[in-house]
Amino acid sequence: MKHGFNRRQVVTAGPARIGIFDSGVGGLTVLREIYRQLPNESVLYFGDTARLPYGSRSPEEILYFVRQILTWMAHQGVKMVMMACNTSSALALDQVQSEFSFPILGLIRPGAQAATRVGRRIGVIATEATVNSQAYLNAIQELAPHVPVWQGSCPKFVPIVEANQLKTPYARQTAERYLQPLLAAQVDTLIYGCTHYPHLAPVLKTILPGQTQYIDPAISMVAAAARELDALGLRSHTPAWSTEFYVSGSAPEFKRLAVQWLGHQPQVRQVRLPAVAIQPVSSPPTPIK
Ligand code: DGL
Repeated sequence: MKHGFNRRQVVTAGPARIGIFDSGVGGLTVLREIYRQLPNESVLYFGDTARLPYGSRSPEEILYFVRQILTWMAHQGVKMVMMACNTSSALALDQVQSEFSFPILGLIRPGAQAATRVGRRIGVIATEATVNSQAYLNAIQELAPHVPVWQGSCPKFVPIVEANQLKTPYARQTAERYLQPLLAAQVDTLIYGCTHYPHLAPVLKTILPGQTQYIDPAISMVAAAARELDALGLRSHTPAWSTEFYVSGSAPEFKRLAVQWLGHQPQVRQVRLPAVAIQPVSSPPTPIK
């Protein structure tokens, strides 16, 4: 199944942008990295806020959502898509890469590569869906079979970030509880296996020992994207960049939340995604509390 345009059409059809998507504001930690490493690129950001958190969704649902988002992005004329969501990268990347004609990058392998370069005892914190997929475990073991890995799912972190409760005692207590097994395992390296979690870095860094190394997979994914854009001759060298924000849920809510990381009130529009051929098998889960 092929969706969208072929690569040449995308490049010549208009302002070729990089698409990034997440369930919500987690993708802003990836956007920050794009601004740093690819400052001339225009970005199309999609936050699937009506359906977050993705971490409690089934693999079928996640695959369906990702296909919908990519189909919509294909029609917006993107030249590349970076999944700014580990859950989507873990559950859908392999399937969708061959279904679309533009390059699609995920976070798992770049994160595992960065972690195995420095870590001897690696901890991964991620959503339930990502942990259950074993994607990080498999990627790390493939690269460094003798390096022990501890994984922990942190289902309350995404609701804490999305409800802007980062600085509350509840956030701290929750983080202490989630990190306890990793502290006991004496991990020397921690992978932020969900793009929402770097927003919690100020809390996490006060709980783990000072020498802990933190891996944000976005840094390596964006570096890989830069190399791929160069190899394909698709990199923008004109400094007139812009970012357009779209969400599936409330635009004002996203705007209010995002301003603290962006430093300005972004323009945000709500969009209805197209239905695609393959339907999810499970029923919609309960909304975020
Ligand atoms: N930020 C996403 C991730 O990296 C999704 C989190 C969620 O919605 O549960 O996995």
